Amino acid sequence: MFFSDAFLDDLRARVPIVELVSEYVQLNPKGGKYWGCCPFHSEKTPSFSVDEQKGFYYCFGCHKGGNAINFLMELERMDFPEAVTELARRAGMELPAKTAEKPENKRERELIFAANTDAARYFHNLLWEPSGRRALAYLHRRGVDDKTIRRFGLGVSAEDWQGLAVHLMDKGYKEDILLAAGLIGKKNDRVYDAFRNRLMFPIINNRDQVVGFGGRVMGEGEPKYLNTSDTPVFNKRMGVYALNIAKRARGLSTLYLVEGYMDVIALHQKGVPGAVATLGTALTKDQCRLLARFASRITVCYDGDSAGRKAALRALELLDDFDIEVRVIALPADMDPDEYIGKYGREDFLALPGLSAAQYRMLRFKDEKDMSLLEDRTKYAIESAEVLRRVENPVERENYVKQLMLDTGFSREVLLDQIKINAGRENRPKRRIIQNEKKEADFEKAEKLVLCALTMDIPPDTVRETDFVTDDARDIARMLISGRKPDAILAEIAEENRRNALAGVFAMEIKHGDSAQLTQIVLQSVATMRAANLTREIEILRERIAQTDEEEKTALLKKLMNLVEEEGRLGSMKGRVVTLEQ
Ligand code: GTP
Ligand code: MN
Repeated sequence: MFFSDAFLDDLRARVPIVELVSEYVQLNPKGGKYWGCCPFHSEKTPSFSVDEQKGFYYCFGCHKGGNAINFLMELERMDFPEAVTELARRAGMELPAKTAEKPENKRERELIFAANTDAARYFHNLLWEPSGRRALAYLHRRGVDDKTIRRFGLGVSAEDWQGLAVHLMDKGYKEDILLAAGLIGKKNDRVYDAFRNRLMFPIINNRDQVVGFGGRVMGEGEPKYLNTSDTPVFNKRMGVYALNIAKRARGLSTLYLVEGYMDVIALHQKGVPGAVATLGTALTKDQCRLLARFASRITVCYDGDSAGRKAALRALELLDDFDIEVRVIALPADMDPDEYIGKYGREDFLALPGLSAAQYRMLRFKDEKDMSLLEDRTKYAIESAEVLRRVENPVERENYVKQLMLDTGFSREVLLDQIKINAGRENRPKRRIIQNEKKEADFEKAEKLVLCALTMDIPPDTVRETDFVTDDARDIARMLISGRKPDAILAEIAEENRRNALAGVFAMEIKHGDSAQLTQIVLQSVATMRAANLTREIEILRERIAQTDEEEKTALLKKLMNLVEEEGRLGSMKGRVVTLEQ
């Protein structure tokens, strides 16, 4: 579903955020904001603030923040269209006809869901008939019991070419719906079942709708799996297998992300609820986002082979961007979760150590290295240092450094030096501003201050988008300068940790007297940012000069002198940053 910005702006304007939040949190006005105890973490003294004017909330304790839509998504675990629909209901607003789903599309989707549900029943019923005997035996042989078969709605597609097509058309489904659902194909005017003689895994979304199927050959054969192709209700890069089941698990502490449907089923049957899988493709951001809505922790448990290891490393990269705790289980090289739990049982599976992302990356660096060789130990230390540089928590990092000392024999000082090397040399810091980094450069503080000031009253032209240093800050600045409101900007940031951090920026308190003084403070910060940009330009220029021939060198040197001069001028202007976070 797509909503226009104009509609969303209007919607948020009509539902005062204070009113919405008040239904969940007791709020009291104080110092221009409303305060209450945070609904997202437990606390006794209020650190949860709502800014009515700017239209967003921010908790100074757990650092969650966002607009009215985010609030509903977070608290009621709604997805975006659900939260918008709910807000529209409260506001008494019609969903816009232009952007609301076209009635005929809605009708088509509903019919596809219905056809899929009937198909799932058909496949499942076949399993208990004589023609399904082979499939049932296959499942039993693989240790899947009848209760689990029912729980997951497993089934089998018949060997003939039209069993399902005939069954569903008898029920009144039209050919075009079955084609759109990917349940049948058509060639030379004849329709045929898309799945034949395969074990059928219905793929059900978290709203309990059957969106598609995975079909596995029984025994050997190619392709091993056939998945529903993309349809109006199915996209294999968005969905997650068994989330409908995992989300109901009681006392769920983590979701287990595994590779295969069979792994999910085996874990579930053995008493490890919360197992889910992607749909035969590598993990995507959309799937991360979905998973993050249902759990605060994800344990990646991919196959132990080299493909599984690579996939796990890739999954970690993606999950890094989400506000979710990540653990990894490293299975033995020749095993998948299904085999492991089958062989060793639930207790042993649960006792497998959940490695942090850094630990897992370091473990993988050892692959194909001979740690008895100094050369390999050196490589290992260098690679690990690269990872440890990104570990923000000093205590955690200390543990890994200790381990690294044991593994490599290098001293603490040497390893710490290695970790420091290259730190901060990545040219333009990509996403710094919106991350909770420990050590903040002056220009980063300045960026935050100026962004916050842009939500207040400062004269236009005090600052330009290009004055900002990081890509992130430039993006936000562009929107603020063009008149977008803070709540509308928050609405565009889908990644939760970035959005929270930005809400934190908007919620900052800039200590200033009158507006002239505010402008003065802002100008100082702008100078700090310009200086940082200049420094970077100078660095780049110096590198170019080192590599260039004589003729060009003279011109570049002249440019460099100018830059350095300008940097000196700015240096005298920039002041200390004088914000105070609440
Ligand atoms: P078993 O080998 O029976 O244990 O099945 P599995 O579900 O564990 O499959 P496997 O570990 O081989 O693969 C993991 C997942 O990748 C599967 O569940 C599928 O989603 C997907 N997959 C595997 N093979 C294929 C294929 O040939 N085509 C497609 N589209 N997906 C596949
Ligand atoms: Mn498998």
